[in-house]
Amino acid sequence: MFKILGFLLICCSFLLLACSEADTLGDEPPTEIVIEGTPTWRNGIGKLVELKCASCHQVPAASYTPHGTPSTMDLRYFESVGMIRRGDSLEVWINAGILEQKLGGIRKMPLEYATPLTDREITYLKDWAISGSPE
Ligand code: HEC
Repeated sequence: MFKILGFLLICCSFLLLACSEADTLGDEPPTEIVIEGTPTWRNGIGKLVELKCASCHQVPAASYTPHGTPSTMDLRYFESVGMIRRGDSLEVWINAGILEQKLGGIRKMPLEYATPLTDREITYLKDWAISGSPE
């Protein structure tokens, strides 16, 4: 009987340990994508955009894609970079400043409650957009 209890106790402590480790993640900053050399879709930008933008911007919409997200742009794929409403491209929006401010009715990207971009990640995206969003 006591053996079983002892065993259960050990199991519980492992469970508690596992949980407390997970809890500490809340204090850590989100993983930053680091790009060596020129940022291109294949060299880092695709990965960055998939991680920080495609969580909402995917087709069909993800369960947490908010109402009103453009439904044609799937930012997991390079082909979608030029397929934004009204024929704009991601490059145009980034150059217009969507990563830094609200533009007309469109909010700053990513939305406030999503995983934020780091300053370096914003710089990569802007460098990429200003050089013509190369693949
Ligand atoms: C939490 C969800 C979410 C995330 C993450 C997100 N977006 Fe958005 N995005 C939206 C919504 C919703 C809209 C519609 C405009 C609005 O509601 O302000 C939008 C609109 C846009 C538009 C305007 C397109 C159009 O046709 O109107 C662009 C460009 C854009 N997002 C780029 C990005 C980029 C780049 C990222 C990552 C850095 C990103 N978004 C991350 C939800 C998101």
